[in-house]
Amino acid sequence: MVGKYATETLQANESGIARAAEILRAGGVVAVPTETVYGLAGRADSEEAVTRIYEAKGRPSFNPLIVHVPSIERAKRLAVFGEEATELALGYWPGPLTLVLPKREEAELAAKATAGLPTLALRVPDHPVMSALLGAVDFPLAAPSANPSGFISPTSAKHVLASLDGRIDAVIDGGVSRAGLESTILAVRDDGTVEELRPGPIKVAPRDSARQYDAIEAPGQLASHYAPGKPLRLDASDHAGDEFMIGFAGIAGDCTLSGAGNLEEAASRLYACLHLGAASAKPRIAVAPIPDRDIGIAINDRLRRAATPPD
Ligand code: TXA
Ligand code: MG
Repeated sequence: MVGKYATETLQANESGIARAAEILRAGGVVAVPTETVYGLAGRADSEEAVTRIYEAKGRPSFNPLIVHVPSIERAKRLAVFGEEATELALGYWPGPLTLVLPKREEAELAAKATAGLPTLALRVPDHPVMSALLGAVDFPLAAPSANPSGFISPTSAKHVLASLDGRIDAVIDGGVSRAGLESTILAVRDDGTVEELRPGPIKVAPRDSARQYDAIEAPGQLASHYAPGKPLRLDASDHAGDEFMIGFAGIAGDCTLSGAGNLEEAASRLYACLHLGAASAKPRIAVAPIPDRDIGIAINDRLRRAATPPD
């Protein structure tokens, strides 16, 4: 597949968005900035487009995609919203929250987008470029993170091109993603209970249900993910000479997540530091301890998976 497509870099302006919409209409795949990470978008109503997403990422076909829509109204055409889901959507959309809901039988979606599941993961993103693109087309966009399956997620167009150049039609360069970590995923059950399937930028107060981070019901929540391709040591207060150090707060590094110890800043820089560590000549990476509170919980979730060697 490599070299099959000459990947275009598009500007984040009207003509770039129009060109991206044209490629998508024709069934192509385009990497698009969102407030979380860059997504690899394709029309969610086309088996061909969705197949190209899986191929470009080398993603196993049992791992379903998040479908992006411009509004709650459009989301309600695709999935069943009970009271709880409506409340969450009104509270957090547009924003970095994905809701897993019962799919409507009549929803016009490629079967592959949901990997044949009766549920659907939906998100209304909060990014001017992604929102403009969703407004320019009349179909929903399936978009997983724009990285080869299992590797570090991209927070810039440069990260996307480093691993997918020649495998996708285009990337829109919209600068660095603000939040820097993938959306929080909540599944809303028929009885209204809510389960957190992936921690992320939005922390919803625990309701009457237990948190179930490790349930492999989100098939993508595999033990090894976000992997930099070399050993990663966590909770490191110092580092050996052959380790690329990722620092935080009082511990300085070759790349520092936040010198001031600000967890939001650390989240926004996490993948950029991991990309630098992966590309560095040093054979190993060490990461300073990150407090397990607020968005630190999501940072530690990603770091634990990044530190787990692939099967
Ligand atoms: O912030 C994000 O969510 C980014 C941007 C591009 O929107 N997207 C993203 O997609 O992180 P991806 O494919 O890398 O992660 C989606 C996760 C996977 O772990 C997948 O297994 C899970 O969502 N998922 C998708 N559909 C599901 C469903 N019906 N039930 C449970 N989990 C689902
Ligand atoms: Mg991903």
